[in-house]
Amino acid sequence: MILQTITEEEIKFNFDNEEGYPIHPIHSIHPYPAKFPSQLPSKILDRYAIKGQTVLDPFCGSGTTLVEARIFGANAIGVDVNGLSVLLSKVKSTPLSLKQLDKINLFISRINKKILDWKSNNRPQIKAKEIEGRHHWFQENVSEEITFLLNEINKENEIDVQDFLKIALSSIIVKVSNQESDTRFAAIHKNIPDYYTLERFSKKLSEYSLIIAGLSKIISKKNTLNVYNADARNLDFIKDCSIDIIITSPPYANTYDYYLYHKFRKRWLDIDVKFAQYNEIGSRREYSSLKKKPEEWNNDLIKCFKEIYRVLKGKHFAFVVIGDSVIKKDIIKIDKIICDFAPTIGFVIKNILSSDLENHSKIFNPSFAKKGKKEHLIILQKI
Ligand SMILES: C[S@@+](CC[C@H](N)C(=O)[O-])C[C@H]1O[C@@H](n2cnc3c(N)ncnc32)[C@H](O)[C@@H]1O
Repeated sequence: MILQTITEEEIKFNFDNEEGYPIHPIHSIHPYPAKFPSQLPSKILDRYAIKGQTVLDPFCGSGTTLVEARIFGANAIGVDVNGLSVLLSKVKSTPLSLKQLDKINLFISRINKKILDWKSNNRPQIKAKEIEGRHHWFQENVSEEITFLLNEINKENEIDVQDFLKIALSSIIVKVSNQESDTRFAAIHKNIPDYYTLERFSKKLSEYSLIIAGLSKIISKKNTLNVYNADARNLDFIKDCSIDIIITSPPYANTYDYYLYHKFRKRWLDIDVKFAQYNEIGSRREYSSLKKKPEEWNNDLIKCFKEIYRVLKGKHFAFVVIGDSVIKKDIIKIDKIICDFAPTIGFVIKNILSSDLENHSKIFNPSFAKKGKKEHLIILQKI
């Protein structure tokens, strides 16, 4: 199906209570900043894609588009510079077999038995794994229990099961650390008792295994999934004209440091931080700390859009959610910038739906809604 025009009536920015587009509970597992609502990709796919087509999200974050693509019955390709995002996206969009789910249930039973054994017969001595900042950010008993869980997880030989266990562990890391919360990077004293880390992990893993069991029943094994830890400015591992539809949301310039957000999770899981640190585009590090000029943001976006153009099939569409931002006190009207450069690449702008950021703080942190910034859904067609 080739889309000619899309009106505001057809794709609204208000995704509250969208009938017919329920939010699958898989989207609630594990924190990730600035996710878009799952109804956005699900509604776009429902209206403008065909089962069996290939969907790309070159900034896949927590994998929202990939999950919805798989539920819809499409092949999904995700790319993100952040290693934790790649692991999370892969885990959320990979169905597990009954045998694999049994393995997870056995793992939960083993951990629960250990907790009972340790409570009744003394806790063994465990040498905690050393990670940078551990003594400031983690209690010793917590570090020992995380180390124990990691050792157990590393014994698992099936990669999909191991990855699933890692995501369950990763999800509790901030809660059991001295960090105040996922959104507040301050150290506080939480006085976490012995066994709390093990018990919380076991509870999360039980919850998550039920969710993935449900999802696994509705995802077709016929479709493929590929998630790459790579830079969207260079997608040379994806063939020219091979993608049917792109649904994505690049960073909003000078708003986040995604590479920093999951710092401790990545350290415990041995996920590289540097690749994301040096290749993340639009980060606060680049535009607030290193004081890069706004033109560099435009150049990075142009590189990404050229790649999006190259991999997309002729006449097909890219749906891009992106927000205005502020660099050196100047507001960057990103819709205008994209309207200027997209036609020079070969795109036709089919529609731009804009909304004040403060009107839908459900999608993004309300603090971004300052200074008249807007968020846009930009619909581009390759000619
Ligand atoms: C707005 S978030 C995407 C959120 C996603 N739509 C979701 O629902 O979870 C933007 C993502 O772009 C990623 N990113 C930043 N620079 C990148 C680059 N050069 N190449 C690929 N991904 C990048 C960040 O790591 C982050 O995950």
